[in-house]
Amino acid sequence: MFPRAFFLAAIALGAFAEPARRAMSVHESRAAPSAFVNSGAADADTLITLRVQMAYNDLPGLEAALYDVSTPSSANYGNHLTKEQVASYVAPSATTSSAVLAWLSEHNIKSSAISPAGDTLSITLPVSQANSLLDTTFSTYKHVSTGKTVIRTLEYSIPTALQGHIDLVYPATSFVTPQATPKYTSLKTKREVKRDLQARVDKRAVPATCTETITPTCLQDIYGIPTTPATQPNNTIGVAGFIEEYANEADLKEFLTSFRTDISPNTTFILQTLDGGSNPQTRSEAGVEANLDVQYAIGLATGVPVYFISVGETNNDGDADGFIDIINFLIGEESRPNVLTTSYAFNENDLTRADLVNMCNVYAQLGALGTSIFFASGDGGVSGGQSQSCTNFIPTAPSGCPYVTSVGSTQGFPETAASFSGGGFSNYYPTPSFQSADVAAYLETLGSTYAGKYNASGRGIPDVSFQGVNFEIAWDTEEGTVDGTSCSTPSFASVIALINDRLIANGSSPLGWLNPFLYSTGRAALNDITSGDNPGCNTNGFNATVGWDPVTGLGTPNFTALLTAVGL
Ligand SMILES: *[C@@H]1O[C@H](CO)[C@@H](O)[C@H](O)[C@H]1NC(C)=O
Ligand SMILES: *[C@@H]1O[C@H](CO)[C@@H](O)[C@H](O)[C@H]1NC(C)=O
Ligand SMILES: *[C@@H]1O[C@H](CO)[C@@H](O)[C@H](O)[C@H]1NC(C)=O
Ligand SMILES: *[C@@H]1O[C@H](CO)[C@@H](O)[C@H](O)[C@H]1NC(C)=O
Ligand SMILES: *[C@@H]1O[C@H](CO)[C@@H](O)[C@H](O)[C@H]1NC(C)=O
Ligand SMILES: *[C@@H]1O[C@H](CO)[C@@H](O)[C@H](O)[C@H]1NC(C)=O
Repeated sequence: MFPRAFFLAAIALGAFAEPARRAMSVHESRAAPSAFVNSGAADADTLITLRVQMAYNDLPGLEAALYDVSTPSSANYGNHLTKEQVASYVAPSATTSSAVLAWLSEHNIKSSAISPAGDTLSITLPVSQANSLLDTTFSTYKHVSTGKTVIRTLEYSIPTALQGHIDLVYPATSFVTPQATPKYTSLKTKREVKRDLQARVDKRAVPATCTETITPTCLQDIYGIPTTPATQPNNTIGVAGFIEEYANEADLKEFLTSFRTDISPNTTFILQTLDGGSNPQTRSEAGVEANLDVQYAIGLATGVPVYFISVGETNNDGDADGFIDIINFLIGEESRPNVLTTSYAFNENDLTRADLVNMCNVYAQLGALGTSIFFASGDGGVSGGQSQSCTNFIPTAPSGCPYVTSVGSTQGFPETAASFSGGGFSNYYPTPSFQSADVAAYLETLGSTYAGKYNASGRGIPDVSFQGVNFEIAWDTEEGTVDGTSCSTPSFASVIALINDRLIANGSSPLGWLNPFLYSTGRAALNDITSGDNPGCNTNGFNATVGWDPVTGLGTPNFTALLTAVGL
């Protein structure tokens, strides 16, 4: 340990030692975000924490390895990588790391590596020093609807000599407000729900277990999901929790008592926390989203151990960084869930391209380790995470990352697209090869409709769908219903967890990154949804059609057909 005086001296020195000027180049630049207002230059002395993301030494190698272990026709299918193998692609080269550390050291900035492979450095520094390091002016921005403030900039530079060594510095230019996707209106009474349903569906086509609301029993019936318990103790599901959404055990018990009378009402989840996350059990603090997610993971993935992973805001200011932290946390563990489900989304244009690509690279790492990553496609139809006014369609994130499986919603019997089902095309990620024929076929039928409103060369979302309307949940001592892709996402993830259980019991690997399977041998196991649309931006949105569409993806699951598709 150094004596305290040493630190004081070092800080004082840092205050007036002018680092050598380097040639700088603008690294990221973006338009002002519409949901925030700039309330002026940030106070010079305020400390901020930034992350410096160094270039992976072999990103193409990581991506090739990910495809190799995730593509059913590959000889290496299912041979997921070890943590060490992933780190060997991700760790920065010695040249990169020494060049970046030399730059920080010129500014007397100490850094610490915060990712398993050491590729992400965290630095904490006064705004004045961040301004000079990045040749910018950080400002305080206020989120208009919540009043929350963040310190950000619209443009920053890095030394020209470090281009290629630094992917990005964040959160510098991201303005994210992660949203739980179920727009919670009110707990409808059973009578109101019944009236809604009678008005909407052909009752003759409704299974007896689905006449009033959607429950685990109804979903088991319509998709053929088994009620028998899974047998593999190490095949777990991770349910991600953000924005102080807490999962309540008493509500879960009430839910199981009402809707899974065949399993112990004491069945519960295991809590994990990071970034100062917590999960207080005061009944009134229960979150609709967190309750929904754990109730359907436990209620459908019978016998699969469920981890509720609560991400706090200690090392991130409620921005998208928590989405990266949870992945690094899981990569760092000795064993990790084979399935991770997240029902939070945001608008793609909240982030810059570099931000989303960086996040996506982290998902590639977890996928290569064998985890299937599910994200809700959002609840605004073609208008983003939530319905909003727009001219051009707003794709959601992080669904646009090809290394996650994006889940949309259906409703009714026979199933049609739910009108809120988020869908469209990424502006940041090009159409990946596994879905290029599907996207081309869809665009062919669309013709010139909506030209200019969406990106015809982007990755299409969602990949799959699942019922998402009138889900019965227990919340704050009551029972009621919710709608949203938040219902669909943990439910689809649970189906895959049960398939993984069977695969592992048979001596095989879990499915891992799912998309190459879904778009090849898996598609035969999905019910194609061919009616309904997802309105937004003053349009009717896209139509669900025969084959893949940007409303319901490839469709909803058929459990027995999925077993056949994986070779069981
Ligand atoms: C699943 O698909 C099979 C054909 O592969 C079909 O016989 C069965 O009825 C389907 N199950 C459900 C629940 O739709
Ligand atoms: C489950 O994981 C633990 C520790 O990670 C390991 O010791 C045990 O052998 C595993 N069990 C099975 C059935 O794979
Ligand atoms: C659930 O837990 C309670 C309290 O510990 C216990 O009395 C009860 O027998 C348990 N129920 C089951 C089905 O295991
Ligand atoms: C459309 O997507 C492509 C592929 O990702 C990208 O290169 C292009 O910049 C995007 N266009 C717009 C206007 O965002
Ligand atoms: C959707 O389908 C309806 C009915 O067939 C058709 O009139 C409309 O043009 C289609 N819209 C798009 C965007 O494909
Ligand atoms: C199931 O196990 C049998 C016997 O070991 C094996 O031949 C078969 O390939 C396995 N199937 C899958 C899908 O893992």
